[in-house]
Amino acid sequence: MKSGKYSCNTRSETLEWITAIIDFLKPFSFLINAHVVNFFKDKQWEAVDEDWMSCLRNEKLENILLIPSGTVQDHWPASLKDFVHTLRSLSFPREQADLQTVLSDVNVAPLSTVLSQGMNLKKKHEVEVLSSVVSSVVNSVGESTVVDVGSGQGYLAQVLSFQYKHSVVAIDSSSHHGNVTDARAARIRKHFASQMRKSGSGNKCPDAPTTITCRVLSTEMLKSLTNVPLEENDLDLDAAALNEGPKRSCSLVLAGLHACGDLSVTMLRTFMECEEVKAVVSIGCCYNLLSEKTSESSCYKCGFPMSAGLKSLGFSLGKNARDLACQSAERWSSLGEDAGLQNFELHSFRAAFQMVLSKHYPEVLATSPSIGRQGKAFRRQKQRKALETPSKLETSRKDIDKKSTTHTSSSFEKFCLSAFSRLNLEHPQDLDLTATWNEANAFTELIGPYWSIRAALGPVLETLILLDRLMFLQEQGDSLEVSMLPIFDPTLSPRNVAIIAKRL
Ligand SMILES: C[S@@+](CC[C@H](N)C(=O)[O-])C[C@H]1O[C@@H](n2cnc3c(N)ncnc32)[C@H](O)[C@@H]1O
Repeated sequence: MKSGKYSCNTRSETLEWITAIIDFLKPFSFLINAHVVNFFKDKQWEAVDEDWMSCLRNEKLENILLIPSGTVQDHWPASLKDFVHTLRSLSFPREQADLQTVLSDVNVAPLSTVLSQGMNLKKKHEVEVLSSVVSSVVNSVGESTVVDVGSGQGYLAQVLSFQYKHSVVAIDSSSHHGNVTDARAARIRKHFASQMRKSGSGNKCPDAPTTITCRVLSTEMLKSLTNVPLEENDLDLDAAALNEGPKRSCSLVLAGLHACGDLSVTMLRTFMECEEVKAVVSIGCCYNLLSEKTSESSCYKCGFPMSAGLKSLGFSLGKNARDLACQSAERWSSLGEDAGLQNFELHSFRAAFQMVLSKHYPEVLATSPSIGRQGKAFRRQKQRKALETPSKLETSRKDIDKKSTTHTSSSFEKFCLSAFSRLNLEHPQDLDLTATWNEANAFTELIGPYWSIRAALGPVLETLILLDRLMFLQEQGDSLEVSMLPIFDPTLSPRNVAIIAKRL
């Protein structure tokens, strides 16, 4: 487990890596904590090194989009190149690991048509790889029931049941997901049963996963849901529902494919607190949903930080940093010029609209209004239009900007109209939106470079969150085997790092 000069094979190495990240990030807290809707209003670009911004404002869009992946251009200022390279060296590497070499007994087998029905390419890849990893972990710790935590529509759970023949419990907070999982499993089981009848093998058809609908909010809840004996103070859950279904082994392996926010953390804590849980395989996501202790709140067992080492450093991320940790370098580099341009234009519109609110609706601005969904709808609408009108990929950002000034001004007006309606504000007829747009437009070419430099911090922030989880496990001593591995192809599934821990 290594990135350049940093590695995380031991607790002290992990702590060293974490400390290097924190030291590096300190001078960039202004960038991390920036709320980009205030880009024009607060002239946010002025806080960034002037040489960086004047160089990047003329840079080709395709090169701007590559900054989060660590790609620099020769003519850039040395300090900018250094910034990008250092971020890269502090980020946990994402190239897919050669699983056969690092894990014993992993054999990534293709999914049959019936099992992969309904999955897109990304999901199929994730489930194909993760099911083989989980199965190899189960085989190495001895017969266990797999608990798929945050199971969604049960894709992973069904492959583990029907292809790998493990006993599986699928837990999700959404009853709709539970129903879809049951219905899908019934269809798959019918198919397998008929195949077995035809082959005359006499083998028993594997059981479908047992589904449980519950919002898991603590280790106590997860422990009780998995039928582990409860402590006196544990929560009283519907035991009748939990005892239904096929007989389960009392040894458990917890698996989570993109278990959101605190759910991944709860899995790791349950593994630590519960002897019956022999192993855990966790791939997290939605770091924006992590709970975090702030100066105002006391947060018992927060999602971040988990490790004693990081707690002792007194470092906190904050909401904007947690949001930023969700940015993925692969997503940026694969965005393409049209989508990239639309993205930056949308950010410009939102930031210019903030100027409108600041001037004319200061009382609305004070409530931190969100027009997020409207923004997404607007982007989709623009993407549809872009598909209808093919653009010249070779065109430089400057040329595009010049040509489209009038067009963007009217698009900005449309954006404002839908934003007003989203905020239930009347649109005053006397507002000169073109004047506000012209005021902002002089700086719109800075928003892409600014966002891109900011997004480049995302992989390092995600690394910090992952290293904290890893160190939490390493702090428990030598009784565990712990590893952190990028198991998916990052171009298909950028949130690809699995934390795998087993009791020895
Ligand atoms: C990102 S989805 C992943 C679904 C599935 N593992 C997959 O990859 O297809 C996260 C799932 O976790 C569920 N979830 C989120 N928080 C939860 C909680 N606290 N307890 C149980 N399920 C939760 C959501 O309903 C959602 O289905």
